[in-house]
Amino acid sequence: MTPFEKICGLLERRSGHVLDRGGRERLRSTVVHRMAELGLASMEAYAGLLLGNRDPEEWQVLLSQVTIKESYLFRGPAQWTALENQAVPELAEAARREGGELVAWSAACARGEEAATLAMVLAESPHMAGCTWRIVATDVDRSALEVSRRGVFPERAIRNVPPGLARKYLEPVGTGFRLVPNLLQRIEFRWLNLVDTPWPFSSGAFHIVLVRNVLIYFSEENRRRVTREARRVLAPGGWLFVGASESLWGTTEGLQAINLGRCFAYRHGASPAAARHCGSGVIRGVMGAGSPPAAALAHKTTPVKATPPGCCCAIDIAGTVHRLAQGDAEGALAMAIRLLETGRERAELQALAGMCHERLDQPLQAVERYRAALYLEPGLFQVHWLLAGTLEREGWSDRSRQEYRTVLELARGSSAISLSFARALELPGTEEAARRAAEALGE
Ligand SMILES: C[S@@+](CC[C@H](N)C(=O)[O-])C[C@H]1O[C@@H](n2cnc3c(N)ncnc32)[C@H](O)[C@@H]1O
Repeated sequence: MTPFEKICGLLERRSGHVLDRGGRERLRSTVVHRMAELGLASMEAYAGLLLGNRDPEEWQVLLSQVTIKESYLFRGPAQWTALENQAVPELAEAARREGGELVAWSAACARGEEAATLAMVLAESPHMAGCTWRIVATDVDRSALEVSRRGVFPERAIRNVPPGLARKYLEPVGTGFRLVPNLLQRIEFRWLNLVDTPWPFSSGAFHIVLVRNVLIYFSEENRRRVTREARRVLAPGGWLFVGASESLWGTTEGLQAINLGRCFAYRHGASPAAARHCGSGVIRGVMGAGSPPAAALAHKTTPVKATPPGCCCAIDIAGTVHRLAQGDAEGALAMAIRLLETGRERAELQALAGMCHERLDQPLQAVERYRAALYLEPGLFQVHWLLAGTLEREGWSDRSRQEYRTVLELARGSSAISLSFARALELPGTEEAARRAAEALGE
């Protein structure tokens, strides 16, 4: 085993991350950079620092460099709408019965964007009358937690905050915006590594758990472990949200999947009474005009039947592709999401969903979908090419160049895989993708 492979293995064990090609590249350049900074002559010596936790600080530096902290407030608006209109009214009522406190957890909180969003939603909800609340927010990256504790966000991170809420809960400070103190003080930021189980929380501690956009980096075993623990720490009837491009992929372990129309959530042993209440949805609030109407949410709040793997057949994908080709990106996206939920790990569907987001002018969601696709199938050169384009347009030129390089590497090697619908959606073949990638790289 080469020293670099040893480092990959150590990192995978420590963080739970399964490193794809891009992740390995990021790790390699971080290690090389750190070796230079520390004056170490070999990767072997650097691996020695990490081995047996000989240098806990170096672990922090490494985790901070290789974990992806891309986030922003009100990310995944359909989930926030569902949380506000369906989860909170019901959970607030339950919390009032139990003593009057609703407790939520933002796991993998990055720089606090998700916790700040949750704080605004809870503060704004009329259903919270007579009920207090607090939020626990955790992450494996200590430097991100330090930023979180300040509660200051750059302008880019608050672009999706409804203007009324921004005026009420965010104060301009320097070049950014700070969450008002009376919300920030209700959030407790703590360090926690999700793959170190059992978690230091008692059973049933939380009414709401958000584990969004982190499971995607984990192995199936770790996803299963996280799901099991999430169920344990959820109060009966509590709600679990994972990222829009994630699902528990057959690891639901006693959680019930709930179809909320535009998104999914999972619930801990929802009682029929709770389900009825949930369906009655009180629909007004912070997401404003973008919120789906009450009736739409109410009739779509149905448990998802377990579907055997493999039933997501080619014809379904063809239908989705057809919609997208016809210009109905929204409809195609809804189909792709539904198919993903039943069809499990479908790299092609993630790629398709990414293209839909792209057409809907949602570049960050597109990036997430493309990454999900590449996590499942790193050889999809067209997805690397699509991702490179999106990153380039968003101004992430380093990462974009990395993706273009991967396109070249794949196109020149023997492991390139083509999307089955490439032709229908006018995606380039290997030669053309390589030509365009080389052009973008100025080669
Ligand atoms: C892409 S961000 C997601 C932020 C937020 N949940 C959202 O959806 O916008 C992923 C976060 O997961 C954290 N993370 C990665 N591995 C982790 C682990 N093993 N335990 C806890 N947090 C982890 C990273 O540090 C990063 O902040």
